[in-house]
Amino acid sequence: MVRAVVRAARGLARDFGEVEQLQWSVKGPADFVSAADRRAEQILVQDLHRARPDFSILTEEGGLREGRFPEHRFIIDPLDGTTNYLHAMPHWAISVALEQHGEVTAGCIYDPVRNELFAADKGNGAYMNDQRIRVSRTAELDRALVGCGLPVRDWKGRKSFPGQYERVADQVAGLRRMGAASLDLAYVACGRLDAYWEYGIKPWDYAAGMLLVREAGGKAARLEGDDRPWEEGTVMAANAALGDAFRDLLAVG
Ligand code: IPD
Repeated sequence: MVRAVVRAARGLARDFGEVEQLQWSVKGPADFVSAADRRAEQILVQDLHRARPDFSILTEEGGLREGRFPEHRFIIDPLDGTTNYLHAMPHWAISVALEQHGEVTAGCIYDPVRNELFAADKGNGAYMNDQRIRVSRTAELDRALVGCGLPVRDWKGRKSFPGQYERVADQVAGLRRMGAASLDLAYVACGRLDAYWEYGIKPWDYAAGMLLVREAGGKAARLEGDDRPWEEGTVMAANAALGDAFRDLLAVG
């Protein structure tokens, strides 16, 4: 997984250099970026399929390709933070998870701009560039830095978000909307953020990140109350000290 992610990142990083130039063109970089996204997905699918030909593969762009062993499935987002990438904002990542029998057993998130590779495999802890990472120890909400998503246009979370926002914003030290859910979760895992939540995100945005948070000693859950890494869900993550209080704060109302 790590090898595939690093190989796919090379092309995306090269194309990211072009995107900056395209900001001034009339047509803008949209077509160029979706082609870059598709190329990265192709590399990931090709490499992972070669390594495990019988596993299923679920990708953001291509949907589900059933393998002979459907209970083993790679979940891939070739470019998380597409809107950032499109606007030449250097905050995006590739995210790949392996789900086996309904449980995520390995995950890898790579930010090529900062050369930060986050990886976890179930029961063996979480790592950034081979260094063990752990969630923060911030125990009071009024000292916590919290990541989130923000509703735009027809976003379904528009109804639940304002209440959650008010309750959280009233209590915490700071809120951030950074634009790449996989990195938000990786940042909770390594203690840069103390907590994070977002309404209605897709499995490829959160599957690897939730495992990272758990393996780093934090709490990560779908607010739907179950643990189905293959469905859209509202995801919360927090360090161990804040986990329950933060979850209660989101669930009220
Ligand atoms: C998006 C990012 C963003 C989140 C959106 C996702 P994409 O993923 O993770 O932070 O707010 O809900 O769709 O579309 O760039 O892969």
